[in-house]
Amino acid sequence: MPSNSKPTKAAAAQRITKLKELIGKYRYEYHVNNKSILSEAAADSLKHELSQLEELYPELITADSPTQRVAGEPLPEFSSYEHKWPMLSLNDVFDETELKAWEDRIAKLIPDKDMSYFVDIKMDGLACSLIYENGELVRGVTRGDGYVGEDVTHNVRTLESIPLNLHKGVTNKELLKGYTEIRGEIVMYKDDFAKLNQQRKKDGLELFANPRNLAAGTMRQLDPSLIAARPLHFHAYDLLRENREDISTNELCYGYLKELGFIINQQAARKKDINSVLSYALDWEEKRQSLNFNTDGMVIKVNNRGQFERLGVVGKAPRGAIAYKYPAEQATTKVRDIQVNVGRTGAVTPFAVLEPVTIAGTTVQMATLHNGGEIKRKDIRIGDSVIVQKAGDIIPEVVESLKSLRSGSEKVFKMPTKCPECDSALTKKEDEAVLRCSNLSCPARTHRQLEHFVSRGALDIDGVGERVVKTFLDEGLIADSADLFKLRAEQISQLEGFKDKSAENIIKAIEAVKNPPLDRFLFALGIRHVGIQTARDLANAFGDLDSLREATVDELAEVEGVGEIVAESIAAWFIDEENQQLLAKFAGLGVAPQRVEVSRDDRLSGKTFVITGTLEGLAREEAEEKIRALGGKVSSSVSAKTNYLVVGDNPGENKLSQAKEHYIKIVDESELQELLRS
Ligand code: IVH
Repeated sequence: MPSNSKPTKAAAAQRITKLKELIGKYRYEYHVNNKSILSEAAADSLKHELSQLEELYPELITADSPTQRVAGEPLPEFSSYEHKWPMLSLNDVFDETELKAWEDRIAKLIPDKDMSYFVDIKMDGLACSLIYENGELVRGVTRGDGYVGEDVTHNVRTLESIPLNLHKGVTNKELLKGYTEIRGEIVMYKDDFAKLNQQRKKDGLELFANPRNLAAGTMRQLDPSLIAARPLHFHAYDLLRENREDISTNELCYGYLKELGFIINQQAARKKDINSVLSYALDWEEKRQSLNFNTDGMVIKVNNRGQFERLGVVGKAPRGAIAYKYPAEQATTKVRDIQVNVGRTGAVTPFAVLEPVTIAGTTVQMATLHNGGEIKRKDIRIGDSVIVQKAGDIIPEVVESLKSLRSGSEKVFKMPTKCPECDSALTKKEDEAVLRCSNLSCPARTHRQLEHFVSRGALDIDGVGERVVKTFLDEGLIADSADLFKLRAEQISQLEGFKDKSAENIIKAIEAVKNPPLDRFLFALGIRHVGIQTARDLANAFGDLDSLREATVDELAEVEGVGEIVAESIAAWFIDEENQQLLAKFAGLGVAPQRVEVSRDDRLSGKTFVITGTLEGLAREEAEEKIRALGGKVSSSVSAKTNYLVVGDNPGENKLSQAKEHYIKIVDESELQELLRS
């Protein structure tokens, strides 16, 4: 709930009625129509506000309040189908302590064994189970209530990523016999979702709320041709057989899924202990925006499936798996005011001043409204209750206003027509949504970029903060960030409030950052979408500025953590003439970012490979050489120390069975190629 002074009882009663209506609607749409009009986090936030109001005035609690009940209604529309084995849910943990407590609990139940884990991204889509009989797809079923789902066979058949027949090349031929159930998540990729919505915007249609809703809504269409028209993808995460011993570990399971022709997340990996699990989860918390699908956490399973089975089920969740959830990124609060800000590019961006609210552990008081068009489209008014979202290091944004919670006193906001900083006219390009200050030397523009340039995380120049930068600008000593490197002590000491000593110190501090680490320099340039983590990834991948500026969009997008949008933004920045001039100016003034040694690729270090059978596209020696070049070892016999058995044509049966005995990952040639490539 937004932090507010205590409301009167009458005001609370009014608000409670509206909150109950909206939450009730959310629940109905969610459970009955399988449509979510709000995110779970936003709904939770509203429920929280409701329960706080009810706590203030307990006499206002009624039996029908959403705070007083749980459970929802099942769906009647499709014919129902009972799952052979329930589709369980997962218990959540939210931090290191809870994760380790889970490990302690299971370690007590399996005390004699070493436990390793298998982790995967938790996809925000729609769970689905696919049934294959003798390798042929016979049924697709949604999760439903976990025991009974809906038969969506016709619909799943339209998904290109779902094989109608399991690939015969799988190393474990058993999987092609009898009953094989594949489980996974149906997702819509973020870029496809954005494209669909762009088209709808053009066509003047109502926009879809989010990829998950759209995926779920699409799967519930009764006409399969509608589904075929929407890009949905199935990512597999489980394979079930009547004989549980057919698959000994989850790592092997994922290998088989891939061999059978399913998409699996590249990020799925075995981790040797809980600390490695944790650091992997934290790593992906930061990087998850770069994934092309939404995720709210990681799924962590005990790798050994025998152990997993032995751990059993409590309630509806298995003991041997857990969801590590990232903090909720949405909450509801109120808009106190709407103001505008002039940015580094002259863009005039409206933002909402909010009643402070905690999202994902930080207090949010402001959120961007992007542009005037967005405010109109979303109909956001001063005084509105709104859903605010904060994702990673992205600026918090107002997702939508909750119109049903309006009291009538909300005010419509109008975008200014003149720059609030320099009074120049604001202009808008035809194909752009943003208003910009027409004055190229609008002080606000330069000011914002310079503030960023000297900020912590960027060049972090000692003694040069926002105020000093403003003084230099106001006094006409600098006009851009490169000018800082032209400054002389005499110029500074003449300014009010500076002494000879402090002026000299500033010059020294500026001098000291002339060879900044490449990542900081990249970050300091203020390229859109390049936060400090992306700057690090880029620096590590390219090593120096020249290699980076010459990189193509494709090359940029290949860097882990850099998506297409980011890659395009970087390329566009380097192509821009003004930016090229700026870089030339830096170089002329002796500003030279340090080269980063592109780390020698030793991805396969510590991994032992055994090759059996004939490889097609690669001579055996060549394969061995490539493995060694990446730090891996090649051995001629399979032992417990082997990590991968590479299987070609006519493999040695002994090696295969030994590999299975030791739960060694079996890969085919194309997978080896991929290991060598990625
Ligand atoms: S494994 C015992 N892996 O999360 C359940 N589930 O609460 C084992 N989900 O609705 C599930 N991504 O559909 C697993 N990589 C992933 C997943 C995943 C999303 C969903 C799943 C289910 C929910 C479990």
